[in-house]
Amino acid sequence: MPDSINEMTEQLTTENLLEAAQIYGTPLYVYNADRIKLQFKKLTDAFNSDKVRFFYASKALTNISVLKVVNEMGCDVDCSSINEAKLALYAGFEPSKVLYTSNGIAFDEIEEAQSLGIHINIDSLSNLEKFGKKFGGSYPVGIRLRPNIMAGGHIKISTGHEKSKFGIPVDQLEKIKELVEQHHLNISNLHIHTGSDIKDAEVFLKGVEVLFDLVPHFPNLKSIDLGGGFKVPYKDDDPSININELATKVLAAFANNEATKNLEIWFEPGKYLVSECGYFITQVNVIKETPVTTFVSVNSGFNHLIRPMFYDAYHRVQNISNPDGTPGEYTIVGNICETDTFAWDRNLPEIRENDLLVFYNAGAYGFEMSSNYNSRFKPAEVLFENGAHRLIRRRDEFEDLLKGQVI
Ligand code: LLP
Repeated sequence: MPDSINEMTEQLTTENLLEAAQIYGTPLYVYNADRIKLQFKKLTDAFNSDKVRFFYASKALTNISVLKVVNEMGCDVDCSSINEAKLALYAGFEPSKVLYTSNGIAFDEIEEAQSLGIHINIDSLSNLEKFGKKFGGSYPVGIRLRPNIMAGGHIKISTGHEKSKFGIPVDQLEKIKELVEQHHLNISNLHIHTGSDIKDAEVFLKGVEVLFDLVPHFPNLKSIDLGGGFKVPYKDDDPSININELATKVLAAFANNEATKNLEIWFEPGKYLVSECGYFITQVNVIKETPVTTFVSVNSGFNHLIRPMFYDAYHRVQNISNPDGTPGEYTIVGNICETDTFAWDRNLPEIRENDLLVFYNAGAYGFEMSSNYNSRFKPAEVLFENGAHRLIRRRDEFEDLLKGQVI
């Protein structure tokens, strides 16, 4: 961690964003590396323990340059596909710092993960059995469990409840134990991830309680993995998780239990590390006045930022071209050929055609969930680091739409 942490920029300025838009064009994703480092420092300061490891949930944002920032700041990485794992290795992570938390995958991905020498969490009895048959106890492995806890900011991002596909239900402990005994499995990690946008530290404590009941059944355990899901604010008055409270309570729970006090505690934060580092800049194509609504059509759509349409997510918007304009009410829409709304009835400084609008909290699951729907180009990505900016992914070109097609 650099000594200059106190000088790190929490927010990019309007001037930074206007300059990036002018140089690289729009629509444009802009990330602030300093903010990622600052968020990591908040975590490591709060936990302040060498028994705690953070694995960045790279599914939030996998750009190689971002992965390099994460690696250099000393954070490990969690992956949700074998390709994410390969990207992490490509970015320079040591295999021992890469975790692959799988769900519902073909066994050959697990074999490949094993051959790469990375940590693996297995989430089904079926794959656990295949793993046992192939590797026995020769390769330590983690089990992803379903704790039967309902949590998270939206049903689509709640993963620990009784109807969730994720993990082996804790009720199936006996079956897990049978497989472990039969194949002499070396179970080194127990994992849960209850959901995303969790604002209440108590949810993690509930998870800890569930896992602690299981610990005595797995004598080779080295770690307990509590997943990610730390809520960050998306609106001015939005609650976020209290990391200091979380740290105090989780550390106390582990320390006060004879069976867990020597175990490592793992977390997999995605949004917490990269949500607030990201800005998505768009430009206004058209203003359409109708009897009830003033629509602002920007040069983008849910193909670039799907969260509002997919999770009803709120993203703060600002008109950086006219921040002091007279406020009015606007509905900001995209150009995709179906309902495509970024923000409903927002009170914003006057918006004019060609103005630049910025969506905040665009670092996590923004570019990463983008697509070429309607044969639109994916945006470019830019990284600000140590006071300088650089292009880290070029905007699509027409040839990219043809790439892979057999003609
Ligand atoms: N670990 C596991 C096993 C996960 O499945 C996830 C997210 C995380 C960690 C990181 O969660 P985070 O700290 O980012 O909340 N696209 C949705 C979020 C989906 C999260 C899926 N799993 C969104 O934009 O809200």
